[in-house]
Order: sequence, then structure tokens, then C-alpha cells
Amino acid sequence: MLVIAETKALRAQIKQWRRDGETIAFVPTMGNLHRGHLTLMQQAKKRATKVVASIFVNPMQFDNKNDLANYPRTLISDQKKLIEEGVDMLFTPTPEIMYPKGLDAQSFVEVPGISDILCGASRPGHFRGVATIVAKLFNLVTPDVACFGTKDYQQLRVIKLMVEDLSIDIEIVGVETVRETSGLAKSSRNGYLTEQELTVAPLLYETMQQVATAVQAGQCIEVSIANAIKAIDDSDFTTDYIRIQNAQDLSGVCDSDNRLVILAAAYLGKARLIDNMVFSR
Ligand code: PAJ
Repeated sequence: MLVIAETKALRAQIKQWRRDGETIAFVPTMGNLHRGHLTLMQQAKKRATKVVASIFVNPMQFDNKNDLANYPRTLISDQKKLIEEGVDMLFTPTPEIMYPKGLDAQSFVEVPGISDILCGASRPGHFRGVATIVAKLFNLVTPDVACFGTKDYQQLRVIKLMVEDLSIDIEIVGVETVRETSGLAKSSRNGYLTEQELTVAPLLYETMQQVATAVQAGQCIEVSIANAIKAIDDSDFTTDYIRIQNAQDLSGVCDSDNRLVILAAAYLGKARLIDNMVFSR
């Protein structure tokens, strides 16, 4: 696996592959790779002849300095995992390479509306940071296809909208959430949980399943959400939000909407966990 930090070397290699007639699938990450990330690599491999992954803990998408400083950085073990998955190139730029003028002087991409609700309301500027770094990475890697997890449902919608709005010619593939046997969605942030908190954590997904079942059985959305928030807050969790939205554009639910998504974010110890579940009614 080629490991490249400089943009010039990255572009030269991409150009060479293009001359050789290769197609390129891209998986951006912030590292500390788990089975969820590796599933994205496997999906990418099915869709192109070359797979490029990136590891970059993007300062622009962190609204909290401590969160950025403490984000787990495990480059050596990540590289081993990517080699095992047959990834062809890993791009590992530094913040200075990606933002040479500093964050305040940096141009940005903002996807309006959807970036300000849910996680965007709790983490101001987060989706601007995500859209900007993903746009930059897309311009550097110029892939045919890019894979993202549905685990970060709002992020996937933001990226799909960005690609549509800015006429970016890249196919965006959403890959289903990989979970522990307990149902807990795999996340780099699960590493912040204690043994005790790990036994509580699956409650988030269990509660979402109960909400979906109740709504499918005809219970009013407001009542099922209120029950869910109570169940979560009665445990060691503290709810940030639990909402049901239109699965396509994350707008509020109308009577005619059939495909819905439950989105949840909750604090547990030092971690803020997010999860979601799409369902039909
Ligand atoms: P990160 O949290 O490292 O996630 C990288 C990719 O892995 C994202 O597309 C995310 O949705 C996916 N992923 C995470 N957990 C998953 C799981 N349990 N199952 C399936 N896929 C999972 O998301 C980011 O990084 C950043 O915001 C990034 C897009 C790289 C921009 O900086």
C-alpha cells in the first residue's frame, strides 16, 4: 500500500492510474479504524480497480478543542488493517497540508438548511467542516465513486446534497451500519466508554427499534418520541435529541411520508453516541 501525505505525490499517482485506465473508489476516514470502516473498504473494492483511503482528523469539523485533541490517533494499526483489506493507497495529510493558511482564512463549502438541524444544531460549524474537507479530498483524489456509512446519516445526506448542488461527478454510495452483537453501532467513540457504560450503550438502538415498532403499530410520533427520551434519560444516558424525520431530506414528517428515519444522539459518560434507523410505515 502506498502511503502518501503530500498532495503533489497524490495527484501524480492518481494521474498515472488514470493513464493506465484504472477506476478509483475513495473512502475518507478520521482513522482509529474498526469493522465499520473496513466494510466501507470492502464495498469500495467491489466498485473500482483501485481503492484510496484517507485518514485525516479534520480540525474544521470539531467544535470542541478537547474533543479534537483527544480524538484517538492509531495510524500504525490502521495501516495494517488497510493493507489486509487490499487498499491501494492511503492519503494521510497533516492539517498544515490541508489548511496552509489556517482555518480562519480557508474557503469553505456550506450546504444550507440540512447543516443546521439535529447534529448541526448541537455542533455548530460541524457540517461546514465536513463538507469542506470532503470537497477538498474529492478534488485531490478525483474518484469515480466514494463510500460513506449510513451510521452518520445526516453527514451522508449533506454530502449527497453537496455533490448534487455543485455538480460533482462522483457516485456516492451509502453503506449499512456495522454493529456489535449487542446492537451498538461500531464507532471510534465507543472507546471512550467504560465497561459499565458499554453494558448500557445498546439501549440507544433498542429504544429506536421500539419507537419504530410503536409508530408502525399506529402510535403517534410525539408520544413514542417522548417515551423514548424518558427511557434513555432514565438510564445513564442523557438525550441530546431523538427525532423522526423524512428519510430522504430530513424534513419534518408529513402524513403522506412513508419512509422515515429515527435519528438519535445521546451522551454516555465521555462519549456522544449517534445512531439512526430507517423504517417504513
Ligand atoms: P469517521 O468517523 O472516521 O468515519 C468514516 C466513515 O466510516 C464515515 O463514512 C462513517 O459513516 C463510516 N462509519 C463509521 N462507523 C460506521 C459503522 N459502524 N458502520 C459503517 N460505517 C461506519 O465520518 C467521518 O470520519 C468524517 O466526518 C469524514 C467523512 C472522514 C470527514 O472528515
